[in-house]
Amino acid sequence: MYNETDFDKIDLHAEPPTEEPARQYYFMAKCRNRVLDFKQKNGCFPKACVVNMGCQMNARDSEKLTGILKLIGYEMTEEENADFVIFNTCTVRDNANQKVYGRLGVMKGYKKKNPQMKIALCGCMMQENTAIEKIKTSYPFVDLIFGTHNIFKFAELLSASFEAEGMLIDIWEDTDKIVEDLPVERKYPFKSGINIMFGCNNFCSYCIVPYVRGRERSRSPRDILREIEKLAAEGVVEIMLLGQNVNSYGKTLAEPMSFAQLLREVEKIDGIERIRFMTSHPKDLSEELIQVMKESKKICRHLHLPLQAGSNRILQAMNRRYTKEQYIALAKHIREEIPDIALTTDLIVGFPGETLADVEETISVVKEVEYDNAFTFIYSRRTGTPAAAMPEQVPEEVIKEGFQKLLETVQETARKRVARYEGQVLEALVEEVNEHDSSLLTGRLSNNTLVHFPGDVSLIGKIVKVKLEQCCGFYYAGTLAEHT
Ligand code: SAH
Ligand code: SF4
Ligand code: F3S
Repeated sequence: MYNETDFDKIDLHAEPPTEEPARQYYFMAKCRNRVLDFKQKNGCFPKACVVNMGCQMNARDSEKLTGILKLIGYEMTEEENADFVIFNTCTVRDNANQKVYGRLGVMKGYKKKNPQMKIALCGCMMQENTAIEKIKTSYPFVDLIFGTHNIFKFAELLSASFEAEGMLIDIWEDTDKIVEDLPVERKYPFKSGINIMFGCNNFCSYCIVPYVRGRERSRSPRDILREIEKLAAEGVVEIMLLGQNVNSYGKTLAEPMSFAQLLREVEKIDGIERIRFMTSHPKDLSEELIQVMKESKKICRHLHLPLQAGSNRILQAMNRRYTKEQYIALAKHIREEIPDIALTTDLIVGFPGETLADVEETISVVKEVEYDNAFTFIYSRRTGTPAAAMPEQVPEEVIKEGFQKLLETVQETARKRVARYEGQVLEALVEEVNEHDSSLLTGRLSNNTLVHFPGDVSLIGKIVKVKLEQCCGFYYAGTLAEHT
């Protein structure tokens, strides 16, 4: 990894290198000179704000953007009224897009007061032509736009945008490129996400992700393990392996490796105490994975297994490639093999053609599987997906009725499931001071449930034993049992 001194060794009079990541470090050095100029003129370093608006994969990308900005010399802030602001956007549902337009409205005011300010947009929403067109006409004050496939080029694009007049747009249709060894700045010192694969090939008919994230490609096990070893050496104890469909990890590698095999290798890394992963597609979840989870001392007792819908007709129209019966059998089998596992899921209400009777089927699966938690979404029509063109889009009133009923069932079963450890002592990784009460710490159990308990900030980042005194709906109030 480069540091300040290494920047001085980069000859900016020479042509930029063609190979990566050296090329990006060249542009970081170039941007760094801009930052130093700013410091000379203003007496302080410029401030930058990275706003993450998407899923864990976007959050990891935001850490990469932050790593580059910090290395260049920006001072990071959470204030959007900064010298450089970048929105890492999501487009999975329309409300994500609306949020971006809302923020841009506010940014317009900021930029009027500080015309030197630079505003950038990146992430999934930028892979959509309609969004780009709207930004060009309605938000012409945006300085830089790039997408998901060329995020590794951020330093180069930032450098170019300093020299460009007006809006600079660079969007790639797709890529098979994976650039390693760029800087990254973790949000938490003790836990980290790690990309193991990018893109998605599943094409669930409602989902825009395969269009904005491109084709599935896996990182090499060597690069993944090397990154985790480095994180462990830096004090990270919990990692989350990230991919849209981790169960199909490794299929595209020159020497294929299964996700379960990868987990076995990760387990061997000293210092890593907890392993999580996200997300599993039920159709690809192997027996091998269940057995690896069962035997593991480190893999957390939590599996997020999106069901989406409980009606076979809807599941088929969604192109999920499993039936309700197959899903229930899988969930039951997992619970038999790993009894203390928490199962969570994603559910959609209002897919084209879905009736209240179909939603009842989803409700019946929720009752049968008894999820520890479920994210329930109202179907959002995404232009370009097969479902968007389907007739029979469901009227809002029908969706609302089904959604409310499903939500109630989900909350009821989750409350029951979460409460089952009341009175027990379990290990929690202490993550932060409680948001609402600073005398409390917030920890996460292996099964992903949160527990709040009195304790000293010095415990943050440590795994401690907590007595789960009282279940308060979806979380626990606890007391420190002993410090391990
Ligand atoms: N790859 C992950 C999910 C990524 S998107 C997986 O397959 O599990 C996260 C969740 O958003 C999905 O599980 C789905 O429930 C929801 N989602 C995706 N597209 C949606 C849409 N068009 N409308 C409503 N919810 C959607
Ligand atoms: Fe979207 Fe389906 Fe891929 Fe998940 S698996 S990202 S829901 S297409
Ligand atoms: Fe994630 Fe949203 Fe993109 S869910 S992959 S940030 S569309």
